[in-house]
Amino acid sequence: MTATRHELPPFVDLHSHLVPGVDDGSESVEESLECLAGLYDEGLRTVITTPHLLLPRLGSDAEVGRELAFHRLAFHQLAAACQGRPGLPAIGLGQEIWAPDATTIRRVLRRSDVGLDGTRFLLVEFGFDLLGTHEDVVREVMRAGRGIVIAHPERYRYPLRTGPLDQMRRWRDLGALLQVNAGSFAGHYRAHRPESESLAWEMVQEGLVDLIGTDHHGSRRDGVSALEAYDLLVSRGEQALAERALVETPGAVARGELVSLGRRPEVRTPGADA
Ligand SMILES: [Fe+2]
Repeated sequence: MTATRHELPPFVDLHSHLVPGVDDGSESVEESLECLAGLYDEGLRTVITTPHLLLPRLGSDAEVGRELAFHRLAFHQLAAACQGRPGLPAIGLGQEIWAPDATTIRRVLRRSDVGLDGTRFLLVEFGFDLLGTHEDVVREVMRAGRGIVIAHPERYRYPLRTGPLDQMRRWRDLGALLQVNAGSFAGHYRAHRPESESLAWEMVQEGLVDLIGTDHHGSRRDGVSALEAYDLLVSRGEQALAERALVETPGAVARGELVSLGRRPEVRTPGADA
């Protein structure tokens, strides 16, 4: 059964490229407003948008600082344009951090201006062709007392003799949350990574989907519908998972309420102190 709009829960997206003009996502404030309105129409109520922070290409701390300031300035321009307009989700700023190893991620772990909208969580990608397990990155983030969301593990190419699901389980056992792209469930990334669709569904079966994100790159790219993913999951009897991955867990991360990582993230009641 397909949910009608008035029945939809308030989706929360922690992965998109809608800060105008800073990466390969939206190119202008107008394009971002149009994309945000589209997301609102299909049920998104909170969008933390995450420009690429390509650490291996930033040679110094000063360069990292300049890049983050560049993101912030463009984000504030977008936020100002959103003010007073109905039919848009609440927006926040984060980053999708490219960090293939512990040394790289260590460069930003103590920065308060890095993370998903001021929370301790970082959205991290390892690069599409994995070079080993990258478990050192997860360990380094956890050691620093921060949380890690691994972006689209269904889209990676895994090294020979590495079972993708086994690797995902190991990342999760170390404390990472796994974020699947909404478009993977309908096969939108088949051209880029043919196995991404089947892997996304195997992750569903194995209980490895913590979050679903749009990875929206502006109006040029399709396959970014949270509602399409929600409907597909509901049609396969996975409504509880769909609501956990599109509403509850990303909402808890965005509100800074997620206090325990691992197989079953615990959500703290707002106001309760742990
Ligand atoms: Fe992304």
